[in-house]
Amino acid sequence: MISQLTQIERQRAILLSLAVAICGLLMAIAGHDDPIGLHGALICLAGILMIFRIGKDYYAPAPSDDRSARYYDDPAKVAIVLAMAWVVFGLAIGDWVAWQLVQPDLTFGAWSSFGRIRPVHTTSVIFGFGGNALIATSFYVMQRTSRARIPDQVAPWFVVFGYNLFCLLAVTGYMMGITQSKEYAEPEWYADILLVVVWVTYLVIYLRTLARRKEPHIYVSNWYFMAFILVVAMLHIVNNIAVPVSLGHAKSYSLFSGVQDAMTQWWYGHNAVAFFLTAGFLGMMYYFLPMRAGRPIYSYRMSIISFWGITFFYMWAGSHHLHYTALPQWVQTLGMTFSLMLLIPSWASAGNALLTLNGAWDKVRDDATLRFMMVAAVFYGLSTFEGSFMAIRSVNSLSHYTDWTIGHVHAGALGWVAMITFGSIYACVPWLWKREGMYSARLVEVHFWLALSGTVIYVFAMWNSGLVQGLMWRTYTESGTLAYSFLDSLVAMQPYYVARAIGGLLYMIGGFVGAYNVWKTIKMESPVGDRVGDLPLKTAAAVLQPAE
Ligand code: HEM
Ligand code: HEM
Ligand SMILES: [Fe+2]
Repeated sequence: MISQLTQIERQRAILLSLAVAICGLLMAIAGHDDPIGLHGALICLAGILMIFRIGKDYYAPAPSDDRSARYYDDPAKVAIVLAMAWVVFGLAIGDWVAWQLVQPDLTFGAWSSFGRIRPVHTTSVIFGFGGNALIATSFYVMQRTSRARIPDQVAPWFVVFGYNLFCLLAVTGYMMGITQSKEYAEPEWYADILLVVVWVTYLVIYLRTLARRKEPHIYVSNWYFMAFILVVAMLHIVNNIAVPVSLGHAKSYSLFSGVQDAMTQWWYGHNAVAFFLTAGFLGMMYYFLPMRAGRPIYSYRMSIISFWGITFFYMWAGSHHLHYTALPQWVQTLGMTFSLMLLIPSWASAGNALLTLNGAWDKVRDDATLRFMMVAAVFYGLSTFEGSFMAIRSVNSLSHYTDWTIGHVHAGALGWVAMITFGSIYACVPWLWKREGMYSARLVEVHFWLALSGTVIYVFAMWNSGLVQGLMWRTYTESGTLAYSFLDSLVAMQPYYVARAIGGLLYMIGGFVGAYNVWKTIKMESPVGDRVGDLPLKTAAAVLQPAE
């Protein structure tokens, strides 16, 4: 880690950590009578620990002169390990939340009440797991497809550690009751500012690496990754514009109010799905799926058309989260229309992935890693079809407020986002650590079946409970009153909630198996020689060349 840095870079890293520690100290002093003070202390501690870590290897030998001829993979490696740690944590909390809905008493005081650990779950899996995996794979892919090393040495570490510090502030904050009550954007103003700095650094690293590329063409994965980084910066900044009550308090008021606030939030929330949970992971898919299958993308042109369709259409669809609200009717109709149009570029990508596998089905049969990616493409197609359908106003009148939405979310999250990530991680861990393969191919197989069965159980349970809920709430007696009370519908949910929690348990065990396998692979002996550039470049070029 430190051995890749020169003396000057080590000094810079220490200065940077010192600056972080001082910021934390100031926050701790200013907020001594507020939870923000605890976060200040946490930031200060993170800075000090970092100084000690660098100090420990400060006098280690400097890197050899040929370091610029190699890819810079250490930050990606650390981000992969962190992604696996977050997924273990996030899935366990998710299953706990699921059991709370079966048995509401499963809490240990306010810190672990449903309202607090639910965002702990969503933040850990989306930002902790998904975000780290995206940072790792984007660093990996952009260097290989550009045939250029990341130009900066300390900045990628700032991105990885700064980002994880943000996630840590977020989840510990929720447990203390800190939230700005915007879904997927719960952290308060100081954490948001940290994320802006981290994210802009990430964008600059990406652009600087691309600018150094030795490959004339910018491979499609990079387009998706760039859209992900750029748009997330935009969304995050706009949705979080707020005025803190004071610099010593973890409380702020949004610049927006009323229906404008709602629209800004769901423009954000919806496009977080589009650019965080979709575009970034499509970037992963377009690199790792063809690489693993050993075949070029079925239609490179279609991947580009899909890119422009997705980036343009998604932006206008956010209002489908606000059907039947105070939002003007035409804005709702606009969101619905764009959501329906979105199906075309979405299926173009899902279809492109599956058609790429045509002729390689024997590999899909034998290789669980590739099967993860294949199933991810299927669930991507399924959840986008479902999303377009749910965006129709009259369908939404049935699905909204019910578990159908939760089923849709997890078809996308478990089936698409997490599966494509596991597939990509299983593909790139041996490449990154220069191992012959994963520690155990059988464990990958076990993980695959646990993940698939867990997803199917989860999603079917929620489809059932969502439809039952929706229908019970709109059933009238002959005299025109509601046939069921809310409590009746709650009782009817019980078996589905048990099923969901069991499905989640299977999925979680799969995640644990995956984390164990990744750890054992890293710890494995027998490196496969030192392949400079570490990927057989010939294969890479042949597979990834635009087909048209
Ligand atoms: C072990 C697997 C998982 C279990 C048991 C689980 C369970 C849950 C539960 C119980 C909720 C709250 C539902 C409600 O309020 O009615 C929830 C919400 C959510 N989960 Fe998961 N989850 C799992 C995995 C994941 C993964 C891997 C992701 C993302 C990559 C994810 C993303 C979300 C999101 C975005 C929500 C909020 C949904 C909404 O507000 O509509 N979950 N999850
Ligand atoms: C064509 C693509 C898609 C469309 C048109 C779409 C549409 C929708 C609609 C209409 C809702 C319900 C809004 C409501 O009633 O409150 C929804 C919720 C949601 N969708 Fe999708 N969806 C798509 C793809 C995806 C994918 C691939 C994911 C990946 C995980 C995803 C994640 C979510 C999440 C997290 C929510 C819950 C938001 C909340 O907290 O309320 N969607 N989507
Ligand atoms: Fe949406």
